[in-house]
Amino acid sequence: MSTPVVLTGLRANSEFHIGNYLGGILPVIELQARHAGEYQVNMFVPDLHSFTTPIDHSKLYQQTIDNLKVFVAAGLDINNPNTFIYRQSYVSAHSELQWILSNFTGFGELSRMTQFKDKRDSLAHFANNLAIENDYKGDFPPITAGLFNYPVLMAADILLYDAKFIPVGDDQKQHIELARDLAMRLNNKFETELFTPPEAWNKQLEFMNLEAGARVRSLLNPEKKMSKSVSDPSGTIMLSDNPAEAAKKVMRAETDSFGEIRYDFKERPGISNLLQMLALLSGRPQAEVSAEWEGKSSYGDLKKAVAAAVEAFLIDIQAKIAGVDENELLAKLEQDEAAMNEVANSKLLKVQKAVGLRR
Ligand code: TRP
Repeated sequence: MSTPVVLTGLRANSEFHIGNYLGGILPVIELQARHAGEYQVNMFVPDLHSFTTPIDHSKLYQQTIDNLKVFVAAGLDINNPNTFIYRQSYVSAHSELQWILSNFTGFGELSRMTQFKDKRDSLAHFANNLAIENDYKGDFPPITAGLFNYPVLMAADILLYDAKFIPVGDDQKQHIELARDLAMRLNNKFETELFTPPEAWNKQLEFMNLEAGARVRSLLNPEKKMSKSVSDPSGTIMLSDNPAEAAKKVMRAETDSFGEIRYDFKERPGISNLLQMLALLSGRPQAEVSAEWEGKSSYGDLKKAVAAAVEAFLIDIQAKIAGVDENELLAKLEQDEAAMNEVANSKLLKVQKAVGLRR
């Protein structure tokens, strides 16, 4: 067998926040560093996924490049021959396979996707507000077929490369399971090993070596994950935030009234979120960091420690991002996109043959 593929995609419809960085980018970079040669790492930007919710289209192209710069600044070794970086829309097989797969996907199956339901609900809410405030005429549909089909495109992203491991946050669990189901469904129907099903979710978690995908929460609404799409700017730390301002956001973080530090996301999401950020930012095991703080009562001290860590981190990463050579990055992208088109097109051809489009 060839080298197993680890694949991950991070949306580029907006700038990254520290949650994307700690929960999505860093784990893959660590993986690359730890297992160089053992795995092939596909790190791509799902740019076609970017407009499943409304965005500023004039910014999309540069945002994609800027987000890739963050990967490089974070330590992704783009000269590693086992690492491929590419933009989804530059490999057209993604769109083509998406269409084919969508004919093997149930309407009900997609309707049950919790991310779809959440986004649909928040978009509906947003559209209603617009209607009131801006005399919105409803000439642009807020909840699109693209949003609904999003998981099928994601399955295509995964299955084209026979990816085994897909390190993502736990909000993506159902999408990974759909990709696995579709792989097995088509393999069964066409009685071939068309696709390699990605590993089941528990194996994904084992692989990521975490109990649950690291998921940094909003500072203000710690029951929710940190997110750019909610109107929660003071709960979110963007990588481009002014470092001193970001430290202030940490100092204003929502906690609880227990008055005792404990790492327990169920009961104390605010405090646990801070402890988690501290562990991730310092690269130390969570148990060790938690043990240092548990039982103490001063939330202020913990906030100060996290604020200082966040500030130092932002100063460092911003300097690194500014130092990335854009031309070198573009050259690498084009080279990898050519290579990925070959891989993806040969998989697509197999599928086209199986479904009767090609001989
Ligand atoms: N859906 C993912 C997210 O919102 C992004 C994504 C798209 C992705 N295609 C993917 C992640 C394929 C992993 C593999 O974060």
